[in-house]
Amino acid sequence: MLLITRDLPPDVLARARREHETRELHLQGPFAPQSVLDNLAGVDAILCNAADKFDAALIADLPASVKVIATVSVGLEHIDLEAAAARGIAICNTPDVLTNATAEVGLMLMLMAARRAGEGERLLRAGQWKGFSATFNLGRDVTGKTLGIFGMGRIGRRLAEMARGLDMQIHYHNRHRLEPALEAGAIYHTDDASFLGAIDFLSINAPGGPQTRHWLNAERIGMLRPGAIVVNTGRGSTVDDEALIAALRSLHVAAAGLDVFNNEPNLNPGYLTLENAVLLPHIGSATVETRNAMGFLALDGIAKALAI
Ligand code: DGY
Repeated sequence: MLLITRDLPPDVLARARREHETRELHLQGPFAPQSVLDNLAGVDAILCNAADKFDAALIADLPASVKVIATVSVGLEHIDLEAAAARGIAICNTPDVLTNATAEVGLMLMLMAARRAGEGERLLRAGQWKGFSATFNLGRDVTGKTLGIFGMGRIGRRLAEMARGLDMQIHYHNRHRLEPALEAGAIYHTDDASFLGAIDFLSINAPGGPQTRHWLNAERIGMLRPGAIVVNTGRGSTVDDEALIAALRSLHVAAAGLDVFNNEPNLNPGYLTLENAVLLPHIGSATVETRNAMGFLALDGIAKALAI
């Protein structure tokens, strides 16, 4: 029996039903562990997503029949991997297939934030556009600027490739320096001050979790050049919201483009009144092609784990 916690694209659901007896919960909104615990009879596999928090307590309460948890996400912060390993439960995620889609959203956020796209569209829809003016809605060029990538994994590297198409110079900060073929000319910084002081755009592509929690805090924001632009398509937990909101208000950070937030979907309300913040509802991987590929990969992982 496959327990499916959330909605899935139709083709993915059809395949899941062909391959398994399914119990489909279609959960919406914040996760309540009890909704899983109440539905575990006969379950050997669970298909969930990043909104479902499988912490140590929930994993400890899973019956022995559960052999695998597959998440339709590349991020794994919502699953206690140690607790799962201790119970012998396999964990599968969906790397690679969302790399392009998420990098596209990173680039889109850079462009939208720099060119004040959200602000202009809101104004037009409100009937306040007075026609072309040489001084109206002036943003900043993206082409030729310096992009700093915090977290130069698959998505960060794909964003770098796309940004090179805009003649951007790439700098990055990572736990480890990449081999030259992966670096592709990007400049590696070991320390925050040299990295943040060298860039016009900061893209956060690092995973969440304790090691990156509130990495972008007031101190590091202070190391950015005045007028820098920040985008985040990684995890909201990497940002100290109060610090970023203060910097957006003072315009030390000229604009931000955010697709991920602390405490989704209840983001810090301070963002909502900021014209210089582009806010997207965690759609980095939200294309038909990508979500199908993610769902199929998760089902592949389940098939493999159950065959062992
Ligand atoms: C991921 O795959 O981790 C995306 O953020 C969607 O959850």
